[in-house]
Amino acid sequence: MSHLLPVSRVARLVGQSRHAMQEMIRKGSLATFDGMVELDEVLRAFPGVKWDDDAELRRVAEIKDKAFGKRVLERVLPDKSVLAARLAELGDDYAAAKALLLHYANVLVWVDQKIDDIDEGASAETHHALHAVRAFLLRNLAEVPPDATIAQAAIARERILRIMSAHVTIQPSGHEFLVEGNDTLLDGALRNGISLSYGCSNGNCGECKARVISGEVKKVHAHDYVLKQGEKDAGVVLMCAYAPVNDVVIEAGVAGARDIPIQQLTAKVKAVEVFNPEIAALHVLAPRSQRLRYLGGQTIRLTVGAASGRYAIASCPCEDRHIEVHVPRHSGDAFADVVFDELKPNVPVEIEGPFGEFVLDEESRRPTIFLAFGAGFAPIKSLIQHAMSLELVESMDLHWLADGAGHYQDNLCRAWTDAIDNFTYVPHAPSNDVAAVVTDIARGYPGLQRFDVYAAGNGEELDAARTCFLDQGLPAERWFAGSTDI
Ligand code: FES
Repeated sequence: MSHLLPVSRVARLVGQSRHAMQEMIRKGSLATFDGMVELDEVLRAFPGVKWDDDAELRRVAEIKDKAFGKRVLERVLPDKSVLAARLAELGDDYAAAKALLLHYANVLVWVDQKIDDIDEGASAETHHALHAVRAFLLRNLAEVPPDATIAQAAIARERILRIMSAHVTIQPSGHEFLVEGNDTLLDGALRNGISLSYGCSNGNCGECKARVISGEVKKVHAHDYVLKQGEKDAGVVLMCAYAPVNDVVIEAGVAGARDIPIQQLTAKVKAVEVFNPEIAALHVLAPRSQRLRYLGGQTIRLTVGAASGRYAIASCPCEDRHIEVHVPRHSGDAFADVVFDELKPNVPVEIEGPFGEFVLDEESRRPTIFLAFGAGFAPIKSLIQHAMSLELVESMDLHWLADGAGHYQDNLCRAWTDAIDNFTYVPHAPSNDVAAVVTDIARGYPGLQRFDVYAAGNGEELDAARTCFLDQGLPAERWFAGSTDI
């Protein structure tokens, strides 16, 4: 019996990124069939995986959670109707497998009788041959193949994953993700950094419509928005109200920076994290009924009373309601004074945005260099976390050129290095000669034409860095810059 698995589920089972899987497929070291991987192929390609011990998987997940900062995966059971449907499906699979085994057992009894029938009155030579066939069958049936326990453990782990999550493919973009726990389709996509179109996120606006092409979904939240009968007949559902029961393919629009409307909302201060006298992080929480739609690298305007400022977002779109900005303390900056001296948890903060197009090229699978100048680390942090959640970039190198505020999240960058394969972090001390430092960095990458470079800093730093990178062979269209002069 064939046992086919989607690539994203294989990645989760073996504790690797989707990009690593795609690379193996591209190099021919992992065979696929219509985008699916046969279980035997998984066992062959990953001989080192300890299927009966997921401690290593848990360890990587925990480090990744830690590295992502405040994000904590909700390890909760799926909605009970979804859980019941998944268990019923598993029961059907089990019943089908059991029926097949009973059929095989009957076939063996028939074969045994057939051998007896033929044996009656057979020659001595035929008798011996029949005896040998019977002995061969009995011997092989009694022996457990050496890799059967491994396959059994792998199937058991895959079954648990299938109960706790479902695989979703979005058409026409081809994005893939797992919906885990009691998340809806929309929650699952956002946690994976995929910017689907949506509005209220609670069933009122109808902006999260998607058409189910294959698979089964269930309504897990009531919604006030009324779908037309024609839409229902065509399989249209609201992604904020439905969860997948099994592996589904849906048709839905994925938004780019230009598709996301400017929004206004009132968030509340969660915490002010003063890194040092030069810079602080402001963490705010958007209301449950109005999350901010944005892409990693974009900016927002924040207002408290009469003080206002525009900042790059430092958090990941995958972080649900949490939004983080980094506020440098410049003299005469009223908003920075409010952040450092006055803000307390639960104080309302008006937010307007997002602005800007300094976002990831989601079509790219190229190795990526991130270049952060001082507080330009904020949008770079957002981009890196967004790239991590999408799991599609071949490799990520972060170069952080400090200013007077230093490498104020040095520990976080080192945690990324520990947790993420193919991530490197190189801190650079403050320097008056930016061009010399950047030229050195660029020279460290022979074959720069293969790379994407994302840089964030002030206009002067960006101009100098662009010149250095282009001089060393980076194509102009692979240079992405976000200015902190905002
Ligand atoms: S986002 Fe408004 S109905 Fe789903």
